[in-house]
Amino acid sequence: MSSSKSKTWVLAEGKDVGELTLNNFKLEEREIPKEDNLKNGEILIKLERTAIEPFIKETMKNTKGFAPVTKPGDPIQGFGIGQVIESKNSKYPKGNVVWGFFPWSTYAIIQEQSVWSDITNYPKEYRSDFLTNLGMPGMAGYIGLMKYGNPKPGETILISSASSTVASVVAQIAKLKGLNVVGLTSSDERIRELKNLGFDALVNYKKYDLNGLSRAIKDATPKGIDIYWDNVGGDVSDSVLPHFNDQGRFIICGAMSMYNDPSTNKGERIYLHALDKQLNLKGFVVLYETAHFSETLKQLVEWKKAGKIKSGRIQEINGFENAPQALLDLFHHKFFGKPVMIV
Ligand SMILES: NC(=O)c1ccc[n+]([C@@H]2O[C@H](COP(=O)([O-])OP(=O)(O)OC[C@H]3O[C@@H](n4cnc5c(N)ncnc54)[C@H](OP(=O)(O)O)[C@@H]3O)[C@@H](O)[C@H]2O)c1
Repeated sequence: MSSSKSKTWVLAEGKDVGELTLNNFKLEEREIPKEDNLKNGEILIKLERTAIEPFIKETMKNTKGFAPVTKPGDPIQGFGIGQVIESKNSKYPKGNVVWGFFPWSTYAIIQEQSVWSDITNYPKEYRSDFLTNLGMPGMAGYIGLMKYGNPKPGETILISSASSTVASVVAQIAKLKGLNVVGLTSSDERIRELKNLGFDALVNYKKYDLNGLSRAIKDATPKGIDIYWDNVGGDVSDSVLPHFNDQGRFIICGAMSMYNDPSTNKGERIYLHALDKQLNLKGFVVLYETAHFSETLKQLVEWKKAGKIKSGRIQEINGFENAPQALLDLFHHKFFGKPVMIV
């Protein structure tokens, strides 16, 4: 493919609602847009990096879920960082660097509402943080915990997919707020590293069958669970249900084990657990919490500057051609840290 053209990954015809395969993606070559192609308010960006995220699978479904739907033939979309190379928007002049919800396209025309922030004036070393702790995962962690978790000092929070970017933010904020922080993750190696990120205790859920996992969770949370921050769903979360305290808060942030799994295993039912413990269940999606973005970013940047929140771990992926494979790999525990495509 010629480098003077723009490359775009689009959703192939014949959408797959089950497990993703490379056949769901098609690489197209297009002319790089010119200034004349821009309407008032639009900018042209050169994509620098884009995060490979679980929610992208959700945009590829036939039916509307929690994320905007991508139609066959349209570009795959995700959160990225790009340089403005042409502009018809005075807020985002040529040369600036912006972060937002951008197509998987090496060059793309972007409308103002897709830009989440102009990050030109932040230190250069913060750039990648806008795809991790200061970005959409960080915002989800902060808004979800503070708005719906109602965290109180001395309480216990259990966080699933503990090695995820969202979990690392939630754990560090929960620790700052004086909670006992427990995590569920998939390997002993991850446990060793996560101990530096706010977790007081961690359980390797892969070591147990479901009964064993339930006992291990009970042992790791001797005072019971006040907040369960769920990123994983499925069998792992079923094992958590018996261990809530009364008035526990069950924050459903994600379902890593279920997005890419077409199986029909429906697992344990939540009803009696929710009734017995008078649980507060809250599913939330950060895309619909825009009213809190500026105060959240201010707080996260303040904590970062003060060294209270460490940067999220990143796994760099080189080669724009490799983006679809990276999305497939994301659902198979291939990454420890946010996979970021360097364009
Ligand atoms: N509600 C919202 O607004 C919102 C916003 C952002 C993200 N999220 C959700 O939050 C969760 C974490 O997102 P992220 O961006 O932080 O993810 P991430 O950094 O890419 O981490 C993903 C983690 O998921 C676990 N995992 C991977 N494959 C899995 C599988 N097949 N089954 C079970 N677990 C698997 C692994 O954790 P372990 O090895 O530790 O198990 C992995 O580190 C996702 O469910 C995502 O959809 C929700």
